[in-house]
Amino acid sequence: MAARTIVDFQNSSIFILLCLFSCLCYSFFFFKKRNSQGCDLPPSPPSLPIIGHLHLLLSPLNHKSFQKLSSKYGPLLYLRVFNVPIILVSSASIAYEIFKTQDVNVSTRNLPTNEGSLFFGSSGYATAPYGGYWKFIKKLITTKLFGPQALERSRGIRADEVNRFYLNLVDKATKKETVKIAEEAMKLITNSICKILMGKSFSEDGEKVRGLVSETGVMSKKFFLAAILRKPLAKLGISLFKKDLDSISRRYDEVFEKSILECEEHNQSSEMLAALLEACQGKTGEYKITRNHIKSLFVDILVAGTDTSTNAIQWTMAEILNNPKILERLREEIDSVTEKTRLIQETDLPNLPYLQAVVKEALRLHPSVPVVLRSFQEGCKFRGFDVLEKTALLINGYAIMRDPNIWEYPEEFKPDRFLLHSSRSFQEDIIKEEVLKYLPFGSGRRGCPGSNLAYLSVGTAVGVMVQCFDWKIEGDKVNMEEVPRTITSTMAHPLKCTPLLRNLNPFPSNV
Ligand code: HEM
Repeated sequence: MAARTIVDFQNSSIFILLCLFSCLCYSFFFFKKRNSQGCDLPPSPPSLPIIGHLHLLLSPLNHKSFQKLSSKYGPLLYLRVFNVPIILVSSASIAYEIFKTQDVNVSTRNLPTNEGSLFFGSSGYATAPYGGYWKFIKKLITTKLFGPQALERSRGIRADEVNRFYLNLVDKATKKETVKIAEEAMKLITNSICKILMGKSFSEDGEKVRGLVSETGVMSKKFFLAAILRKPLAKLGISLFKKDLDSISRRYDEVFEKSILECEEHNQSSEMLAALLEACQGKTGEYKITRNHIKSLFVDILVAGTDTSTNAIQWTMAEILNNPKILERLREEIDSVTEKTRLIQETDLPNLPYLQAVVKEALRLHPSVPVVLRSFQEGCKFRGFDVLEKTALLINGYAIMRDPNIWEYPEEFKPDRFLLHSSRSFQEDIIKEEVLKYLPFGSGRRGCPGSNLAYLSVGTAVGVMVQCFDWKIEGDKVNMEEVPRTITSTMAHPLKCTPLLRNLNPFPSNV
């Protein structure tokens, strides 16, 4: 049996050689309509022999290069990496049609899994195919974690953490210390999610867990490529990132096993953990799961929820600090609701439409997950074209949310666009026009289950920072460049600023 080789993709010389070789015989096939199997495929931009469009996937800032590609060749494109077929969608009406006519067919991600690993392992949730296990967990997380009633039950946990976040910023302001917004936001979000998930936070392991989540975030960016290249590399006996995955998985296992044991011993499991432990003992009768399923689910939720929410908080604050008039208007709104006597709370958000609009607009311009990855499980006909079975589907939300055909002044930060519609008529508008133009959380049954929690956490954190502090930044403007070579939209220069207390007397504790 051929020895399995473990390769870090970015260091691999095989691909560089392949690219060089391919460049020598660079050939264009514009709009190739029929492939060798006689299928009528969507239009395709020029490709290279052997590697196909691999070079496009390797380009820095994928979402931007995909956006350029679609404005040149069209909103529905067929790409190929070696022999792996990919459909790239960059228009709101095509995204709408896919989720309307193919939702079940594209409700699997077909990501590569590493046997036994907690992250990207076979017991994961985000990697699970659409089927019995996924449906069982989806129901559980809706009732125990993310549904409206569950969110109401966990409100106290978040209020507690927001208060801690606020007092920490007060401390920094008093000492005139500079704050890295992403670091503070990450602490807030990780602690809230862990407490809601398990019933306790990782007190002494907190730093370790945040480090693990950041490490995982960096690694999951590489998985975008790994997902697409899985088949050809498997044929060559190449297993991407196995060593990294095994190591990270072992460390997650240690902290989660310890915490779950503590919760069990002290009888302090959250609703969610208690329900999962019952399912583990086969008590629910619905679906028997293993302890690995529990830990993998926790890793998935932590990874999916923290980096994304932290990013959203950071980008929103950056946009606000670059727009002093928006900052002033936000403050007026918050002051009128809290009457300057108390700290903003989650329950104030429905009365703060401008704050909600600011968060929505920041997510439109800087979606934490700019490109949604799915897979067509079965071959189908779509808009008259053939789509082959197991074709990867990339929906470029970044391009859709900046499309000049459906957004006025798409590159500008204009929160008012979300005030023109009440949230209800905005939804109706979307359906009437048969376009899916706002999709920072993806869409369909596999869309983000944590979107309501994210709006609450991001809105409150930003609200506290605006309500209670003035912020001194280095230079005149925040630098809004993005980190190249990632699949998330991350600030290249993490936001650093110094808080100055707005009121000499901080608000008393809310809890
Ligand atoms: C601003 C914050 C967030 C953004 C922008 C975001 C965005 C997304 C996107 C685009 C997807 C893929 C959806 C699709 O395929 O259509 C996703 C999936 C997911 N998100 Fe979020 N998310 C955020 C916060 C959260 C939070 C707070 C949680 C939980 C605590 C969470 C948990 C998940 C999970 C578990 C999935 C996988 C769902 C599945 O495979 O069925 N996300 N998110």
